[in-house]
Amino acid sequence: MDAMRNFVLAAGSAPGAGIVGIAGFGLAQAARGSEVFDARVRPILERRCLGCHGADRRSGLDLRAEASALRGGSRGPLVVAGKPDESLIYRLLTGRAEPSMPMGGERLPDAEVDEIARWITALPPEAVPHSGAAVG
Ligand code: HEC
Repeated sequence: MDAMRNFVLAAGSAPGAGIVGIAGFGLAQAARGSEVFDARVRPILERRCLGCHGADRRSGLDLRAEASALRGGSRGPLVVAGKPDESLIYRLLTGRAEPSMPMGGERLPDAEVDEIARWITALPPEAVPHSGAAVG
């Protein structure tokens, strides 16, 4: 439900969304996902996660760039495009899966978790490796 609400908000606020049309929609949505990542998500990960998921790649996970983040770690894909509730990163950040992240640290403020949810919501399936249509 939350995912759907976020999606509608995102689509409604995009300039020119009405004229993009079905064929161009995936592309426009992908660009929006990356914009959200660069502007809102990357600074959060840098501050909170890169001590372990940067050069150290704990659990095989490298969060320094969107592409490497989307590849995920030893447990598989980090996100299910469009579905924060089903996404590993969101579940670990909200304590719905263990061990909660950041490991040994304080839980992220809701506003930061929301930014990550917004990014996941804006991602089209083809942006995520192993999620079906995308290359393996
Ligand atoms: C102090 C080190 C540390 C910090 C900081 C940290 N993590 Fe982790 N993270 C780990 C370790 C260790 C594991 C492996 C845990 C396990 O599977 O038992 C892990 C696993 C993960 C996984 C699962 C990866 C996989 O596929 O195996 C995700 C997703 C994740 N962390 C996200 C985050 C996010 C997002 C942040 C920042 C908000 C963060 N972590 C901060 C140490 C850390």
